[in-house]
Amino acid sequence: MCGIVAAAAGNNIVPVLIEGLKKLEYRGYDSAGLAVIGAGAIERVRSTGRVAELEAAATGTRAVTGIAHTRWATHGVPCEKNAHPHVSGTIAVVHNGIIENYETLRRELTAQGYEFTSDTDTESIAHLIQASLQGEPDLFKAVQIACRRLVGAFAIAVIDQNQPGKVVVAREGSPLLLGVSEAGNYAASDASALLQVTRNMVYLENGDIAELTAHSVKIARLDGTPVERPVHVSQLSAAAVELGNYQHYMQKEIFEQPEALANTLEIVGGSKSIQPGIFGAAAADLLADVDSILILACGTSSHSGYTARYWLEAIAGVPCNVEIASEYRYRTSVPNPRQLIVAISQSGETADTLAALRHAKALGQPKTLAICNVPESAIVRECSLRFITRAGPEIGVASTKAFTTQLAALFVLTLVMAKVKGRLSAEQEATYIDQLRHLPVAINKVLQLEPAIKSWAKRFADKHHALFLGRGRHYPIALEGALKLKEISYIHAEAYPAGELKHGPLALVDANMPVISVAPNDQLLDKLKSNLREVQARGGELYVFADADSEIREAEDIHLLRLPEHYGELSPILHVIPLQLLSYHVALVKGTDVDKPRNLAKSVTVE
Ligand code: F6R
Repeated sequence: MCGIVAAAAGNNIVPVLIEGLKKLEYRGYDSAGLAVIGAGAIERVRSTGRVAELEAAATGTRAVTGIAHTRWATHGVPCEKNAHPHVSGTIAVVHNGIIENYETLRRELTAQGYEFTSDTDTESIAHLIQASLQGEPDLFKAVQIACRRLVGAFAIAVIDQNQPGKVVVAREGSPLLLGVSEAGNYAASDASALLQVTRNMVYLENGDIAELTAHSVKIARLDGTPVERPVHVSQLSAAAVELGNYQHYMQKEIFEQPEALANTLEIVGGSKSIQPGIFGAAAADLLADVDSILILACGTSSHSGYTARYWLEAIAGVPCNVEIASEYRYRTSVPNPRQLIVAISQSGETADTLAALRHAKALGQPKTLAICNVPESAIVRECSLRFITRAGPEIGVASTKAFTTQLAALFVLTLVMAKVKGRLSAEQEATYIDQLRHLPVAINKVLQLEPAIKSWAKRFADKHHALFLGRGRHYPIALEGALKLKEISYIHAEAYPAGELKHGPLALVDANMPVISVAPNDQLLDKLKSNLREVQARGGELYVFADADSEIREAEDIHLLRLPEHYGELSPILHVIPLQLLSYHVALVKGTDVDKPRNLAKSVTVE
């Protein structure tokens, strides 16, 4: 979703702004722009194309102070007039988030004589700051006054041609961090944009405002009270956000899964036992009287939650529910203070998941655990317990390695809860831990199925629909397979628990409907085989991912691939990988934009 880069330095900052925007492209955008203070005046360049086009349009622009933006349209279609920065008189502003009271502000500012030239909510911020400057000439203070009028979520960066050498940034609800260095000071939506200039990052809190010059950083609350924020040295490796030898980030991230799993599970170490402390110092006490679990998440992260539900109830005996965060936050639910709230999120900034977490806490549910890939994110900071997946930066919009590392984290939670409930023998625990440790090797073997999956992909290119089937803990894997296929290949895909087929979806099955089935050798295999025969009897074409020892045979209407190992409880982590590969190769055949599918954003920081 929208990205911000801002800089105040001793040298020309235009290349830093452009490089920063390139690093934020993965978040999803449909237009881009920048504004700098050139020879005493604001110079603005905007483009509805890619950042590379903005770069070409900005050739020759030089300045030491500037702001830049990638926009993912919310208010107003993607077009040049709606692209950021927005200008009002002497100032220019870029904004991430949504201003909920923008219509009121727009009416008020129009009545004061300000002229609106875009359909965006952001333009009202620009005019509001300009109006504040009339009574308070200091930009830092004028932005504070303006921000106090804003309702909604925002991260903004502002420059004023009358105060050159200065950038003011503020945040409330949308992510923003500072990068500090000898050569200059910077701000961005995430650290990857600033690694080019510094590793020293300052994470702004909600309600913080900062003034950056080439040599100074001043931070305050929006009421003007000065605050100090610590400097963190980012551990993010610049190489981790490079594409390297891969064609797409999604491909890179699928193949990084053995390493991502190994890194995530490093915390388990060489021991034969897992202690609650893995989730934080307070975990032993906090988990002791947990009587149930409620998982809150969106999209792919909710699918890891649905999978974990099977584990938590079967292995730990803990009642578990999973709710889509955007639904939970608005429904009337019955709070249970002994329930553990688990917020799952790759980014840790998803607006709905964050709001659902806050809603649960406000209802009087104090026990909270974040399972998240970004240690400094809002969701992690707002939970009492945490498990940081160490998948590394996930750039491709379609989530892959974040999903499998979340599953590993949730399995660790299952083992800890099973121990807390006295349901896990030392022997069982040691066996499960060995299986977890072996996962990177097992995943490597599954990745070797790629050539066969690639040959299947061609058969999907002319299809408009697909059906995914799974049973038990593999039903959420079918859901994830369908989500992957639809988001990157634009083929309409649905997932069903295979037992539901004859209750409706069987009516859709004919020769044009590929049916993809996750068919591990578990206690439901025989039931699943009967479901597959129902598909064959209707002329459907089956694509089956079985295990080495599943007794399913290839036939004219059954294409079969066998995963090398049968992996028991952890089998969902292996079985999702061929589905990721299938979607990736179908998208390649169809020629879609794999890493930046249309209409989607990586980090959904607005509702
Ligand atoms: C799908 C995908 C999305 C995200 C969802 C939640 O491939 O990436 O469905 O899973 O937007 O995002 P996070 O996990 O960052 O909260």
